[in-house]
Amino acid sequence: MKIAIIGTGNLGSAIAKGLIKNKAFTSLYLSDKNTHQVDVYKDTKNVTITNNNSLAIEAAEVVIFALQPKIIATVIEELSSIITENHIVMSVAAGFEISAIERIVGTNKSVIRVMPNTAISIGKSMTCLSGNANGEAKMEVAKTIFNELGTTLEIPESQMQAATVICSSGIAFWMRLVRATTQGAIQLGFEAEEADKIALQTCLGAASLLQETDNHIEAEIDRVTTPGGCTIEGLNAMEAKGMSTALVQGITASFEKLNQLKKN
Ligand SMILES: NC(=O)c1ccc[n+]([C@@H]2O[C@H](COP(=O)([O-])OP(=O)(O)OC[C@H]3O[C@@H](n4cnc5c(N)ncnc54)[C@H](OP(=O)(O)O)[C@@H]3O)[C@@H](O)[C@H]2O)c1
Repeated sequence: MKIAIIGTGNLGSAIAKGLIKNKAFTSLYLSDKNTHQVDVYKDTKNVTITNNNSLAIEAAEVVIFALQPKIIATVIEELSSIITENHIVMSVAAGFEISAIERIVGTNKSVIRVMPNTAISIGKSMTCLSGNANGEAKMEVAKTIFNELGTTLEIPESQMQAATVICSSGIAFWMRLVRATTQGAIQLGFEAEEADKIALQTCLGAASLLQETDNHIEAEIDRVTTPGGCTIEGLNAMEAKGMSTALVQGITASFEKLNQLKKN
């Protein structure tokens, strides 16, 4: 697959890194005003680093726009004359709707909104996808690309804002939880490095256990909560401080903020 990424900042470069690591392309064009985040790939086979967005698009079948929401419309507008029905136009911009892209490139083009997270750089992203009618016809292509970089889920566009919070912001929420666990571990006497290692591997173990066994979360929790034991004591103390409520409230606050930003 011939892929172009327009905008190689935090997310664009993370996608590039994942694609390169997994050799998930036949050619890859990485285009930005300033390519410093991807210059490291300048000698990588079949990778072209450029400041020329048009060159990148003309060489590609799949074009991934990884630009800030405030400028994405202007940039697509500038390039719309060279976007053809053979392209699959993808956008990762939060809050930028399929209809807004269609207004610029036309409803006859294949458009797919993509919501990954930065774990895409190591092939472990959760990526939600949603397309217009033509985009849906090309959805298998999108799934093939992003399944190489983690796991995908096709969702209705009406759920894209929620997916932005759970997938994209979600990675920060999980990291903060791991961080809090390391603070607890240090409090109990572990060195910072030991605390990081223990917290991270335990977090990975919990996620892998649920993913690989498909067991219900509460069933797995029941396995480690001996009646009257230390685990249930800890869980109840955390819940008394509102752990689950705090998470749900954080998620809904993030969602409301995103909706407010979209309106503005
Ligand atoms: N970061 C995440 O975890 C994440 C997750 C999911 C979705 N998203 C979405 O991904 C999009 C990009 O986010 P980001 O964090 O990667 O932003 P970013 O780091 O600011 O990257 C955007 C890049 O596009 C460049 N750019 C600006 N104008 C351009 C043009 N005309 N042609 C080519 N490149 C141009 C910017 O250069 P300058 O800096 O020089 O302007 C910058 O390098 C956003 O819409 C965001 O909503 C981000």
